[in-house]
Amino acid sequence: MTPEPHSLTGTDDLTSGPPPSCPAHGTGPGGLRRLYGPEAQDLAALYEKLRAEHGAVAPVLLHNDVPFWMVLGHGENLHMVSNPSVYTRDSRIWTALLDGTAGADHPLMPHIAWQPICSMAEGDEHQRLRAAVMGAMSTINSRDLRRHIGHWTQELVNQFSLRGTADLVSQFAEHLPMAVLCEILGMPEEYDDRLVQSARDLLKGTETAIASNEYVMSVLMRLTVRRRAALAEDFTSHLINHPAGLTDEEVGQHLRLVLLAAYEATANLLANVLRVVFTDPGFRAQLNGGQMTVPQAVEQSLWDEPPFSSVLGYFAKQDTELGGQRIRKGDGLLLGIAPGNVDPQVRPDLKANMKGNRSHLAFGGGPHECPGQEIGRAIADVGVDALLKRLPDVQLAVPEDDLKWTASISSRHLVELPVVFAPVSPQDVMDRPGVSEVPRPRPDWDGSGPSPEAAPVPRPTLDLPEAPAPAPATGPGQRLGAWQRLVRWWRGY
Ligand code: HEM
Repeated sequence: MTPEPHSLTGTDDLTSGPPPSCPAHGTGPGGLRRLYGPEAQDLAALYEKLRAEHGAVAPVLLHNDVPFWMVLGHGENLHMVSNPSVYTRDSRIWTALLDGTAGADHPLMPHIAWQPICSMAEGDEHQRLRAAVMGAMSTINSRDLRRHIGHWTQELVNQFSLRGTADLVSQFAEHLPMAVLCEILGMPEEYDDRLVQSARDLLKGTETAIASNEYVMSVLMRLTVRRRAALAEDFTSHLINHPAGLTDEEVGQHLRLVLLAAYEATANLLANVLRVVFTDPGFRAQLNGGQMTVPQAVEQSLWDEPPFSSVLGYFAKQDTELGGQRIRKGDGLLLGIAPGNVDPQVRPDLKANMKGNRSHLAFGGGPHECPGQEIGRAIADVGVDALLKRLPDVQLAVPEDDLKWTASISSRHLVELPVVFAPVSPQDVMDRPGVSEVPRPRPDWDGSGPSPEAAPVPRPTLDLPEAPAPAPATGPGQRLGAWQRLVRWWRGY
């Protein structure tokens, strides 16, 4: 990208205050604001400063002061994702990559580096890969899906129901999506604490991320080989059997894309919806009074606290103009989900209830719009509803201000959600199948796919171990640089 420092706004007075390239200053070369470092601790406030200074599209600096555009406007974000002839998800055309400004060791490369998967493919190749994912998704029966969600909610609540206390992030929100995804993919026997911890670990990009990624990939490749040998009635078999003709490698990579995208986003959504239910007295009163349904609470949360706050990134295929800014061919742009959702053009009053309005950006848009959004919504709708029915007096154990958040450029989520409730007995959900009442689906999605045979549901051990089994270690001679290793785990080899 080639932002012209003095022609952008004229608001950056470079003559006063600390030198602009000082990391503590917030602004870097050219007076541009950094999306990392001290000022980025509060990204929401930073986005509003950028909006005030630049309007709907702002020039910013990524780590190592690599220039990028942050798209803040709701309409501008939609325009970008809906115009694949102008903007692509294929980062191989990014100028900073081509001229070496952003090297392979750039900290955000795991988000940006191109991979042969549908979320980064374009044109015919995108259609081929996405058709396979969509085809497999269309076979998921919504009634069975909701039954799995209801069942696993009861199983998870059983783990802590006698204690009267729980952390709903680590004991509920981070487990329910993984348990349900394992059912959908056709590997319910693989759901355990180790898989959850490995997914969480590799998404955090910590020192053990590569080993965790290897564990997740080994589980998914085993499943691929099993199903290639003998198809069953599950997502993986339909992905393999799709006329798009995916190779085993492509099947494994797309299972990982689905598992991780679904896991992280839905875990964030569940925790966010629960927080709103606990902390907003209006919400709670309305929920109890029956005026505000859980699906409406979910939609409100998708506006206010989207599970992915931005997507890195889109890249300009030609010189163009967006939000009054001159974008050059090869420039990179962030899909600004969180700032787009609070754009005053579409939400002049942020306190106003969106009443189930679905025009937020939480699932992106255009050709890459999230194909799994109804699954994410169903897990949140059914999971929260079933939890509140099971623990009707559940409430936060700490003042709202004590809740801790963790944020990165792509997501912001709760660290813990400690709650208290009157202890209740575990329910035997295996022997009394009717016990997990399954709420009715939303009227806009009533399940179009055929009913797959229900896979046998394993009985989890009560009281899952607090610490996961250690992920497999990398072999000797594999000490790569941290960034190289991140890039490798992200690419899956
Ligand atoms: C609350 C839950 C979820 C949220 C907020 C979410 C959000 C997103 C977003 C923002 C994108 C990128 C859109 C873009 O680039 O314009 C995306 C893509 C994707 N999501 Fe989701 N997602 C969720 C759940 C799921 C689930 C449950 C699945 C699968 C079962 C899934 C599978 C995918 C896939 C395969 C893509 C790539 C699509 C493509 O590039 O063609 N997501 N999601």
